[in-house]
Amino acid sequence: MLNVKSVVAATAGLLMSVMMVANAEAKGDIDRGGDLTTDCIECHGMDGKGNFETPPIAGLKESYILKRLRGFHSGKTKNLDGMMHLYTEDLKDQDLQDLAAYWASMPK
Ligand code: HEC
Repeated sequence: MLNVKSVVAATAGLLMSVMMVANAEAKGDIDRGGDLTTDCIECHGMDGKGNFETPPIAGLKESYILKRLRGFHSGKTKNLDGMMHLYTEDLKDQDLQDLAAYWASMPK
């Protein structure tokens, strides 16, 4: 018999697994991100601390970096001379996740 309790339990279980999958996807690979970052350091610096015209990216929150990179990638986030769009447009979403993980792991 289907009762309210079992429906609630099933829904909660489903939600949990959906959330776990989403979480797993949000986890970037730091080592891979390090390999992808050759272009980035030209402007943001070896240590990601930026310079007079480039903001620091080291030690920012992974979710924040990923959000910004996805915005640049899609072109939704406006950026100076389209610089960041140019450097992210050919990257896959997995690349953006790995880059975000790498830079979030670097000291501020
Ligand atoms: C040609 C220079 C250049 C290169 C290469 C470059 N960036 Fe940027 N980046 C910028 C500039 C300039 C900004 C400031 C935003 C703007 O364009 O208005 C920026 C902004 C950002 C931001 C947002 C920072 C914030 O505080 O919101 C992130 C994150 C970022 N870059 C990551 C990267 C990553 C990762 C790469 C390598 C794939 C990269 N950048 C390559 C110049 C560059």
